[in-house]
Amino acid sequence: MQSLTGKTIVLGVTGGIAAYKAAALTSKLTQAGARVHVIMTENARKFVGPLTFQALSHLPVHTDTFDEPDPNVIAHIDLADRADLIIVAPATANLIGKLANGIADDMLTTVLLATKAPVMVAPAMNVNMYEHPAVQRNMRRLAEDGYRFIEPGVGLLACGWVGKGRMAEPEEILEAAAAFFAREETGQAGTARRDLTGKRILITAGPTREKIDPVRYISNHSSGKMGYAIAEAARDRGAEVVLVSGPTALPRPEGVVFVPVESVQEMYDAVFAVLGESDIVIKAAAVSDYRPKTSCVHKLKKQDGELTLELEKAPDILAAVGQAKTGQFVVGFAAETRDLLHYAQEKLERKNLDLIVANNVLEEGAGMGKDTNIVTILTKDNEKVTLPIMSKRDVADKLLDAVLAKISGDSLTDA
Ligand code: PMT
Repeated sequence: MQSLTGKTIVLGVTGGIAAYKAAALTSKLTQAGARVHVIMTENARKFVGPLTFQALSHLPVHTDTFDEPDPNVIAHIDLADRADLIIVAPATANLIGKLANGIADDMLTTVLLATKAPVMVAPAMNVNMYEHPAVQRNMRRLAEDGYRFIEPGVGLLACGWVGKGRMAEPEEILEAAAAFFAREETGQAGTARRDLTGKRILITAGPTREKIDPVRYISNHSSGKMGYAIAEAARDRGAEVVLVSGPTALPRPEGVVFVPVESVQEMYDAVFAVLGESDIVIKAAAVSDYRPKTSCVHKLKKQDGELTLELEKAPDILAAVGQAKTGQFVVGFAAETRDLLHYAQEKLERKNLDLIVANNVLEEGAGMGKDTNIVTILTKDNEKVTLPIMSKRDVADKLLDAVLAKISGDSLTDA
């Protein structure tokens, strides 16, 4: 793994039975060329001894904030500064809770608070603890703060329960670390894979605005973050991207063809102008369903009594694309506030889509304006994958993985 050579990785090991897997992870990271500085919490040392990690990393193991072997530096700041990446594996509910609340009461948590390095967290705990609202809330908060999660697996847990909570395998964590550095090396925020080379992808993002008069309009809270993240991820993976965007405050992504629009009709026209040359269409934009029947040329004057605005149905761009498609793989989004899967499934079928991404925009950490999202991917062949909270960029990559899997005739579990 070329990308790990010479990297400084701080591995935080906390007190769970999966601490034994951290030993295998230390070995794999070291063999891949990384310098692995292990920090163990007091409880981690009840499961595995520091000597194991020292022998595998060939470096001293850190256990005490006040153990200062080098008088020239302050150990926890020095480690925090030197880390290219910090991995916490296993991460207990306790560690996640402390981190989410800015608590720094031992060597690991002080390093985590002092570092500017990216941090990957691999949770490991009993399924009921994992599902506890407090733990879920803490993970959401950390995801919003930019921490990356390496999802635990589902299976028989050491405590005897069956469910989600088993720490990701050392190979998966190694893979995530290698992918992170590979992205860094290519200057890409998303992924170094070029698996979309040759594909032309049309993406819509942001809100639409329907004019009432020259100074007023009907719109929604979409920030464009979801659609822009997909555009950037697709570009980084080698696709030729056309981004049709409603008005947003985001910078225009480089390396994509950018088509600014305002109204549903403008978005409709822009989409149909390039539909024929597209292989994949992804409609993340939040499009008005209704628009004023007439838009006043002059500013509406205040008058006594009520004002009634007459609205007419706006064209449904996605449904029209679903009807007109000639081999394009068409992806819609469903923004719901209740009965998420029911409504998403209905849109998937009615709009003749290949895949739909459902998000409940009332859920904390999901929806409009947020940096994170929580989505379920549904396909026309009845596959369903629910993703945990993650950055919109990570959602974008997972979505593109799913699209590629479906185009290749694979199931989503292979994505
Ligand atoms: O932009 P962000 O702040 O990052 O927020 C992201 C998001 C919440 C906007 C995004 O994740 C999302 O859910 N986008 C779809 C919003 C939406 O319009 O959902 P809908 O369920 O109303 O529409 C279903 C699908 O039909 C969407 O793909 C939409 O683009 C499309 N549509 C809807 C109406 C219409 N007149 N024409 C359309 O093409």
